[in-house]
Amino acid sequence: MKALIIYISVHHGNTEKVAKVMANTLDATLLQVKQANASMLEQYDLIGFGSGIYFGKHHESLLDFVDKLPVLRNKKAFIFSTSGLRRIRLVHNFDKPLKEKLQRKGFDIIGEFSCRGLDTYRATKLVGGINKGRPNAKDLKQAEDFARSLKNSGDSYLN
Ligand SMILES: Cc1cc2nc3c(=O)[nH]c(=O)nc-3n(C[C@H](O)[C@H](O)[C@H](O)COP(=O)(O)O)c2cc1C
Repeated sequence: MKALIIYISVHHGNTEKVAKVMANTLDATLLQVKQANASMLEQYDLIGFGSGIYFGKHHESLLDFVDKLPVLRNKKAFIFSTSGLRRIRLVHNFDKPLKEKLQRKGFDIIGEFSCRGLDTYRATKLVGGINKGRPNAKDLKQAEDFARSLKNSGDSYLN
């Protein structure tokens, strides 16, 4: 199984912390979205896509990257993010735009991970931000467990 992680982390480097733990666990190549191009994906079986959440969805540059991909076959993907607020599946499902784009490009989504990240946007700045210290050790341990579960999912691509 060859894994690649493509991410962008612009606000406080929150998502980068998660991406690094996942890359270590999966022995994956780790690239910022600006370093990645569509032709690289061909070599990988599993590709992770992650960023902070901006206005209810993943970062625009990650969404644009996926928009420009051709339709691919036999690719597994997972999605991850850090965010100021918790995801509420039916009300505030910020994974949905990225997930739908990836599915339209032929990816089989095998997992989604999200945890809180320090957020100093707008009014939260007045109190020094929300989710101070996050992602914390517990979040990163959960990210590691999540990545391990992808590895151990029993799928032939992941052995
Ligand atoms: C301009 C801006 C918009 C944001 N919009 C949201 C949002 O809609 N929902 C949310 O939960 N968090 C939102 N956040 C908080 C970020 O998702 C959070 O801080 C995240 O951990 C940033 O990740 P990064 O440091 O990897 O970029 C926003 C932050 C900024 C700066």
